[in-house]
Amino acid sequence: MIENEKWNKIFNTPLEEPPVNEPERQYYFMEKAKILIQELVQKAGRPLTFCVTTFGCQMNARDSEKLCGILKNIGYIEQEDEEKADFVIYNTCTVRENANQRVYGRLGQLGKAKKKNPYMIIGLCGCMMQEPEVVEKIKKSYRFVDLIFGTHNIYKFAELIVSRLESQRMIIDIWKDTDKIVEDLPVERKYPFKSGVNIMFGCNNFCSYCIVPYVRGRERSRDPRAIIREIEKLAQDGVVEIMLLGQNVNSYGKTLDEPMSFAQLLQEVEKVDGIERIRFMTSHPKDLSDELIEVMARSEKICRHLHLPVQSGSSRILKKMNRRYTKEQYLALVEKIRKAVPDISLTTDIIVGFPGETEEDFLETMDVVKRVRYDSAFTFIYSKRTGTPAAVMEDQVPPDVIKDRFDRLLKEVQHISSEVCAIHQGTTQTVLVESVNDHEPGMVTGRLSNNLLVHFPGDEKLIGTLVNVYLDECKGFYYIGTRV
Ligand code: SAH
Ligand code: SF4
Ligand code: F3S
Repeated sequence: MIENEKWNKIFNTPLEEPPVNEPERQYYFMEKAKILIQELVQKAGRPLTFCVTTFGCQMNARDSEKLCGILKNIGYIEQEDEEKADFVIYNTCTVRENANQRVYGRLGQLGKAKKKNPYMIIGLCGCMMQEPEVVEKIKKSYRFVDLIFGTHNIYKFAELIVSRLESQRMIIDIWKDTDKIVEDLPVERKYPFKSGVNIMFGCNNFCSYCIVPYVRGRERSRDPRAIIREIEKLAQDGVVEIMLLGQNVNSYGKTLDEPMSFAQLLQEVEKVDGIERIRFMTSHPKDLSDELIEVMARSEKICRHLHLPVQSGSSRILKKMNRRYTKEQYLALVEKIRKAVPDISLTTDIIVGFPGETEEDFLETMDVVKRVRYDSAFTFIYSKRTGTPAAVMEDQVPPDVIKDRFDRLLKEVQHISSEVCAIHQGTTQTVLVESVNDHEPGMVTGRLSNNLLVHFPGDEKLIGTLVNVYLDECKGFYYIGTRV
């Protein structure tokens, strides 16, 4: 426990109870953690470092920035090599089985590093921790883990750190669900010029293969005023591009006290001075409104890119997946979008080998790919997730059949995307410069509005600025260009 004397210096009162309200409560625990960490730093005779490793989607990446924000705030210094760090956090994903396997593999390695470092604290959080079997396995086979928490109580990170530092026991705190959204905690952004912004949490769609609704809980939208306030602050801080994040952004606002559509929110975001580019992720085809298409067509800031996961081209499989659209509806939607925004780049997610998928069903997927001609597509082998309806469906497809289909699909997708990518060759486009090119000195890398990468001559000073670049040559999935 912290001695009264030190505590009084900060709060000028005797050891008081922590505030009940958030985020004040977490700021109280951050102050407390600072003192405890300072004591450890003195004992170790060196600065203490942290490393946050992120698995999974953009939502997890954003959560990790919040974890980094707290760790920096309480006195840890960032460090890239996790085996050398004093506080290691894995922010996990469980959307497919292989994501889980990677975590266990790396955790084993980390356990060895911990034996050599008495100051090392290992924390696990994120979607995998919402599965009771995972937590059981860690309790049994990975006793060296210090802290386990889930997706719903991530805002309590500072409080959990203090519990760990004070007790020396393994701390486990997992909630089943929450309706709470805590605002205004520290965030440490990975990029100075672009940022993700959560607009909603959870998912209510229950696609039959997907574990996300079980590990991220019910859908809840953030108050639009809090979103705009955050974006205004980001803009003041030099951010020019934002990515609005949610599992299904098209259903934003439905559960608010004063309901608001995603298209309306976009129009508000567009008004924020300093923000030059707006992206969003992910759009569910069933909820994509005409209003949204109109707003996109009119907008100067919304990027010419739409990620529109199709999952399968077979209406029969789509029904079993509980996606709530047919092949025809999806294709009609694509046509409508292309008509309104002709230069839009479309990308998608596809699952191969969903239970009961026949060769005919698969050919329907191939047909959609050939008709839509995606700029790129993420292709996934169906992964059985315990607890989802699809896991107990009959006719699971044999692995060799899936592999064959997957290879054929990938070949088609890559062939098409190299052709689609090339259509911008010989045009001049606005590019947001993101980094210096590690492989070629004197070159920088930036992104077009449609999300494609371009490498062109330039230096560090250009990072975070928007410049016009002539696209000389398409190299399959990226361009080589010249600044104009
Ligand atoms: N909310 C987003 C998707 C989030 S998960 C949406 O609905 O579009 C990202 C992708 O992982 C999904 O689009 C899907 O293609 C894939 N995926 C989800 N569950 C899967 C599973 N059990 N097996 C294989 N791929 C899966
Ligand atoms: Fe999963 Fe479907 Fe929700 Fe996307 S919309 S997260 S695929 S349940
Ligand atoms: Fe994975 Fe969780 Fe995202 S399961 S894909 S990290 S919401």
